[in-house]
Amino acid sequence: ASKLGSKKERTLAMIKPDAVTKVGNIIQMIYDSGLIVTKAKMTKLSGKQAADFYMEHQSKSFFNNLVQFVSSGPIIVMELMGDEAVSVWRKVLGPTDCGVARKDAPASLRAQFGTDGTKNAGHGSDSLASAARELEFFFPSTTSHGPANTAKYQDC
Ligand code: TYD
Ligand code: MG
Repeated sequence: ASKLGSKKERTLAMIKPDAVTKVGNIIQMIYDSGLIVTKAKMTKLSGKQAADFYMEHQSKSFFNNLVQFVSSGPIIVMELMGDEAVSVWRKVLGPTDCGVARKDAPASLRAQFGTDGTKNAGHGSDSLASAARELEFFFPSTTSHGPANTAKYQDC
């Protein structure tokens, strides 16, 4: 059952190309966080698709490196669901820069499985609005209607 005052949310989690071989460890971290995986697929983004996904960063100096990296190999994307899923998943990820993560959050996903400030193992939506957009990006036409399997997990 949900905790009193908690918010059931969905978020988009991505295992980036550098961490796809660690999917087993990462699924275990998701389980330990209390979130559940309600959708998952392995895919690969073209450069154009990666640029669309990260369009909020198109003016940044790191944009080209980011797009190149995230389209460099297979990725795994998941819909995660649970109480405060957006912030819980970002906490599991740890700081954006893996060097910082290894200092400040050594048990985090990025500390354990990432390399640096670009090759950083994972992505998580940063808000409910981002989550809605990013879930729609990878799992079209499911965000507004709810996935077919939502109901049976509703009270997990
Ligand atoms: P950002 O949204 O700031 O971080 P987060 O993934 O933690 O939400 O940046 C998106 C991605 O861009 C980040 O995961 C890795 C890459 N990036 C760089 O390559 N260099 C940078 O200086 C920053 C801030 C991000
Ligand atoms: Mg971000």
